[in-house]
Amino acid sequence: MNLNEELYKIENEALQALETASGSDGLENFRLTHLSRHGTLSNFLRGLKDVSIEDRRTVGKRANDLRLSLETKFAEKQAKIAKSGGQKVDVTVPGNRPPRGHLHPLTIVRREIEDLFLGMGFEIADTPEVEEAKYNFDFVNMPKDHPARDLMDTFWLNDARLLRTHTSAGQGRVMVGRKPPLRILIPGRVFRHEATDASHESTFHQFEGMMVDKNISMADLKGVIEAVLKKILNRDDAKLRFRPTYFPFVEPGIETHVSCLFCKNGCPTCKYSGWIEILPAGMIHPNVLRNVGIDPTKYRGFAFGGSIDRLAMLRFGINDIRLLWSGDASFLKQF
Ligand code: PHE
Repeated sequence: MNLNEELYKIENEALQALETASGSDGLENFRLTHLSRHGTLSNFLRGLKDVSIEDRRTVGKRANDLRLSLETKFAEKQAKIAKSGGQKVDVTVPGNRPPRGHLHPLTIVRREIEDLFLGMGFEIADTPEVEEAKYNFDFVNMPKDHPARDLMDTFWLNDARLLRTHTSAGQGRVMVGRKPPLRILIPGRVFRHEATDASHESTFHQFEGMMVDKNISMADLKGVIEAVLKKILNRDDAKLRFRPTYFPFVEPGIETHVSCLFCKNGCPTCKYSGWIEILPAGMIHPNVLRNVGIDPTKYRGFAFGGSIDRLAMLRFGINDIRLLWSGDASFLKQF
């Protein structure tokens, strides 16, 4: 192809492109392809430096004329588009808002529990997740080789440190060296080496509470548990029952059951019993008080250790604990 033919080709393509270009985006595309510094015309002109002076003069002039006429046509079309409103910006149209996050259901429930206990005069403490075995076990009356240690298999870092199996590990830390009256809440993350299923997860959350003073009794414990139910589960009519059970750090130890929130005659959530277990608790064992330097002949107290995950599940009707920690946004968006 000689230079003249080449220029014709560019001209034809450019005119056609300008004709069909629509909207300000289309027009800008045309400008970039044909009129910009690296467009078809500039490239063509740059190529002329290697041809004879005579050719450069004639073809160069034609090319420059073509550029001028394309630029004029381009400007005309640009003015037309602008006039027809193609470039108009409506500043009153609402912008695109970035999606906002929100609190995790576990955080919602944890904060409500904290508010509730602050209102009852409790202080809130934060104790380590990577804990010393002596706090997780020895302080709460589970010395080495105590069979109850087997009930809480966990992840050991070495012989002396582990991921805490319960927030009861904080009891020794917060009570040692303190003088009653004490009212303390320890919310936090705990770990168990579990085979997971719909109601067991290897990472979950507890809230440990304890109250120690001269005349603390099970009646105080009952009052506090009732307050939790009313506030967190939003149930004034719930019935409560206590059953004796064993934990090394309480005596007596109790399981608290609440009448089923979901049925009258039995359902899978209450395992057809009409009752749901919510809060293990008990009167603090004299050995635990002794371990932290409090005289058990002068003072008594109660302790409880509830699962925040379980309360969140009951509260929001979630049927699989693993959903909570799954990070699945389509699940979390519902709360
Ligand atoms: N720490 C116990 C558990 O995790 C719960 C508990 C706490 C029971 C305090 C009684 C008193 O299973």
